Amino acid sequence: MAAGLGTRMRSSRAKVLHHLDGMPLVNHVVSAALKLNPAKVVAIVGHQADEVEKAIINEFPDADVAFAIQEKQLGTGDAVNSARQILEGRDSTTVVLSGDVPQIKAETLQAMIDAHREAAAACTILSVRLKDPTGYGRVMRNEDGLFERVVEQKDASDEEKKIREINSGIYCFDTVKLFDALSRVGNENAQGEYYLTDVPGIMCADGEVVAVFECPNAKEVEGVNERGQLAKMEKIARKETNRSLMESGVTLLDPKAAYISSRAEIGRDTVIYQNVTVEGKTVIGENCNIRPGVRIVNSVVGDNVEIRDNSFITDSTIGSGCTVGPMAHLRGHALMEEGSKIGNFVELKKTRLGKGSKASHLTYLGDATIGENTNIGAGTITCNYDGKNKHETHIGDNVKIGSDTMLVAPITIGDGAVTGAGSVVTHDVESDTLVAGVPAKLKRANLNGQKQGPQ
Ligand code: UD1
Ligand code: CA
Repeated sequence: MAAGLGTRMRSSRAKVLHHLDGMPLVNHVVSAALKLNPAKVVAIVGHQADEVEKAIINEFPDADVAFAIQEKQLGTGDAVNSARQILEGRDSTTVVLSGDVPQIKAETLQAMIDAHREAAAACTILSVRLKDPTGYGRVMRNEDGLFERVVEQKDASDEEKKIREINSGIYCFDTVKLFDALSRVGNENAQGEYYLTDVPGIMCADGEVVAVFECPNAKEVEGVNERGQLAKMEKIARKETNRSLMESGVTLLDPKAAYISSRAEIGRDTVIYQNVTVEGKTVIGENCNIRPGVRIVNSVVGDNVEIRDNSFITDSTIGSGCTVGPMAHLRGHALMEEGSKIGNFVELKKTRLGKGSKASHLTYLGDATIGENTNIGAGTITCNYDGKNKHETHIGDNVKIGSDTMLVAPITIGDGAVTGAGSVVTHDVESDTLVAGVPAKLKRANLNGQKQGPQ
């Protein structure tokens, strides 16, 4: 169920799109559902349905997720009813999850499903006992301790409000019996909504078995209703990630100031300094130094890499033994091959920097390929954009690009070529030649000293 707005978030974005641990809430829930290998996952969407659908498809492009639209948010019973066309008539078990209960574990769901089948129940409710049950629906049992019905907070008497066993909003249903009972749910209650929580009560009155499965870990079923709860969850998730990283041999100089996605992988003996952010599916190798203020997003970093202060790296790859920064910027599938180096205020966009090559200061390299052991002088710019289109720059091996060279793309600089300081290079440069000036002209050929001529 992911159709609600989430009024208490005071947001113009649907609640399930808010992020926990770098991922929309709804995707945590879809992820848990997919781990159960279900025949089908149905996401019930309504508020900002397009955005919610996009977020799910983006994260799970290969998964078989169907979308059911709940036009008006008339309650959780109505929400599930909007999946009727997709699910009705199946001889199956339907597990209902809430888009705003993101920490639920697949193992817990599997244990509930097993218990549900064991008991041959029409419905199994995942419950939990809380010190403070305020806000949740309460699980009412009869004097024999058997389930009777769920009472919502807003409909509960003072006596009922004292009950500490609550409905987590997560259930298993016999699919046929679910849709049969749903047809009989009304909206005569304090909120004028169609409550899914009426279904187990109806089933119970029908003489069906309704079981209650107590969740061993109350944290898993905590809901996000407001931003304070989200911040608390974020902190706990981060602490958990950091603990497991340290256990696996990563040094965190200050765990409280390390913001690392649970989906990131970091090798042993890598040191993460203060205020480092590692997002998405980033992989960092062994024995690296990630200095203060660095942010790395969806990137791959090899072993023995030094990333100096305040560098920003996104969607890029850095080979082993490289040095980056301080204050460097890699983006757009930039690739630094083994042992290459970029220094302060160097930006690489959609550029490959070959093995052992260097761009140490104040440089923009975009849409470029650079060979091995080439040196890019301070202040060099690939002029890749003519106002309409982007053009490529190709630089060979063992090239020396002089300081402050403008390389007007499209352009190719041959192996062993040299450009003079301050050159504006507008035409291709042959291998082993020196060009200089504005615009750059040939100054010397045959730089490597070998005699040219017929062989
Ligand atoms: C619900 C339960 C309550 C339980 C609590 C646990 C009902 C009536 N009550 O209350 O017993 O203790 O969860 O967290 O079910 N949604 C829709 N369409 C709607 C309404 C809601 O898709 O028309 C979705 C929301 O987006 C959300 C989920 O259903 O993901 C739960 O809705 P919410 O309004 O938060 O229910 P609670 O009041 O928390
Ligand atoms: Ca809720």
